[in-house]
Amino acid sequence: MTALIHPSILSADFANFQTEFVSISSADAIHVDVMDGHFVPNLTFGLPVVKRLVQISELPIDVHLMIENVDFLAVSYADTGAASVTFHQEASVEPVKLARQLRAAGAKASIAVKPGTGLEFVLDNLSEFDMVLVMTVEPGFGGQSFMSDMMPKVEQARAEIDRLGLNIRLQVDGGIDENTIKVAAQAGADTFVAGSSVFSKSDRNGQIELLRDIANKAFDY
Ligand code: DX5
Ligand code: ZN
Repeated sequence: MTALIHPSILSADFANFQTEFVSISSADAIHVDVMDGHFVPNLTFGLPVVKRLVQISELPIDVHLMIENVDFLAVSYADTGAASVTFHQEASVEPVKLARQLRAAGAKASIAVKPGTGLEFVLDNLSEFDMVLVMTVEPGFGGQSFMSDMMPKVEQARAEIDRLGLNIRLQVDGGIDENTIKVAAQAGADTFVAGSSVFSKSDRNGQIELLRDIANKAFDY
């Protein structure tokens, strides 16, 4: 496995995305958190801003939708040219139908589960998705503490992905830093979202490389 690091721009300067992108050029993709103030108690930005972010980014854009009405709204985000679109199982009425629509629109289809949601549905329908996101904080805000009690879920997802031999990325999001990334990688995560632990550093590219290195070494154990 090779670790992928996706910095979350939730912790970036919202007035300077273009310069902020340059500071994280060694990332594998840029994680963009769309929040609607309903699915989560926080509001960020929507489709017009994501369209521009896709246009100005040299890296793939990984959209994380924390919004309601996602069955209706998500495909427009795939149409922007985003590399992947993650929606929450809790917000979708027909997740398999939605995943197929996202793939048809040219994006990788990804499903997220909040800490309180079990993996039964995801594991029963694994081949429909290109990525699974196990949240390691309650979605809504950056800078929260990593929930190590989510690791059994990560292990469960890793075991099933490997058992079926599927080419699916397993992402964790929330509280990932130099210490917690090792725990998450050992549990089987291979794609790591990191907001505050990247953007709080003056050498952000150095921090991205450090995180990637720690995760890749953890895979060897
Ligand atoms: C939280 C977001 C995360 C957030 C992570 O709801 O989905 O992507 O930016 O931030 P950190 O890494 O600071 O926990
Ligand atoms: Zn996120």
